Amino acid sequence: MARRASARDRATGRGATRAGTIVAARGATTRVGTIVAARGATSRAAVIAVMALALSALSACAGPWLPVATTADVARVQPRWPTATVDELNHGRSLVIRRCSNCHQPPSPADRAAADWPAEVADMAERSGLAAGEDELLTRYLVAFARDQVVAPR
Ligand code: HEC
Repeated sequence: MARRASARDRATGRGATRAGTIVAARGATTRVGTIVAARGATSRAAVIAVMALALSALSACAGPWLPVATTADVARVQPRWPTATVDELNHGRSLVIRRCSNCHQPPSPADRAAADWPAEVADMAERSGLAAGEDELLTRYLVAFARDQVVAPR
């Protein structure tokens, strides 16, 4: 991790965390991805980027930028899941933050279209140690805020 990186690594930005590497490698447009992509600018920026990555990776509340569901969001998914509630969607949100941030930054729902999330979650579920039913809650949250579901990104 960043703390063990040599001074030279830090100066060149090669001390990025594994999560940062994955985020950068898959071309994500998350905030952290942007920071990683921009880190070549100056060595000072590189050090700041690495520190930011380390901090966000260690933070218990990684992903605070993920939108919190309201009744308007429930209305959007009710045609598909009539029993959905605000609490349920936000439970899905906290599961995304807790279960999907061990290896990389938690995904942003806007990374994918609604139709793509079920398969994406199924792909990641095995690695994530999900309890029964958690995959469904995660999926509902990600679908509710998917790229093609919200008018303006929040
Ligand atoms: C045990 C580690 C691990 C956990 C936990 C994990 N992932 Fe991943 N994830 C990866 C790795 C490694 C990749 C890089 C590409 C690959 O292997 O598919 C990745 C890539 C991704 C991608 C990008 C795939 C692509 O093709 O661009 C998405 C989206 C994703 N993960 C979502 C999730 C979600 C949602 C969860 C929680 C349910 C999750 N991940 C949990 C390891 C993990």
